[in-house]
Amino acid sequence: MICRLFGNVSQRVPSLLYRVSLMMKPQVVFVLGGPGAGKGTQCSKIVESFNYTHLSAGDLLRAERARVESEFGQLISNYIKEGKIVPVEITINLLRKAMEETMQKDEKKFRFLIDGFPRNEDNLQGWNTVMDGKADVKFVLFFDCGNEVCIDRCLERGKSSGRTDDNRESLEKRIQTYLQSTRPIIDLYEKLGKVRTVDASRSVDKVFADVKAVLDKEG
Ligand code: ADP
Ligand code: C5P
Ligand code: MG
Repeated sequence: MICRLFGNVSQRVPSLLYRVSLMMKPQVVFVLGGPGAGKGTQCSKIVESFNYTHLSAGDLLRAERARVESEFGQLISNYIKEGKIVPVEITINLLRKAMEETMQKDEKKFRFLIDGFPRNEDNLQGWNTVMDGKADVKFVLFFDCGNEVCIDRCLERGKSSGRTDDNRESLEKRIQTYLQSTRPIIDLYEKLGKVRTVDASRSVDKVFADVKAVLDKEG
């Protein structure tokens, strides 16, 4: 019956589009917190225990920066070193593509941890423009951590990360960007009752115990 109903349609519509239309709407958790709060560390642990795909906006931007044919390599490089937020047109396309590719490979993978996004008003507007109605934002997982702890962790990471922004000069700018641009986004979601806050200044395992409790409750 279903085959008959869709028989004509599937002859005209490309099969990929047909498959996409059958997929679940992406379920998104935004993961925010200062630089070095432990977003990436905790997302890796979540992926081990829950059916989520981890997409880090920073990782996607660094991969795009490294792509030889990219027209944005230099721009991304400058923004990252200066601790500034890359224009959302670039970031949202990377996120959208990564989400689509994940779901096309396995339609059961429709739960995403979007780490380090939205980091400012521009990011949020870009998400609303491109993704409105196409994905559900369940909540914001907020890793709350003092600036000094964040800086110390990034400096420690900088000994081996090879990142151009894990140095004191870039970190001061990144903290400023976090306080001026990202905190207001967290506050905005807080007013909507959509923030789940975890004290991220403790050990990895203690933080994860709280993260697990949030996800066990909320999916
Ligand atoms: P983010 O993605 O928020 O920038 P990371 O997960 O990369 O942060 O963590 C930054 C650095 O701090 C890494 O070197 C990581 O190993 C370390 N780290 C992460 N969580 C903790 C923690 N709870 N306690 C101590 N060090 C941590
Ligand atoms: O999250 P992460 O620490 O990997 O981000 C590193 C840098 O990538 C940020 O300081 C910023 O320059 C850039 N970035 C961005 N927009 C995002 C996420 C990261 O411009 N949404
Ligand atoms: Mg990270």
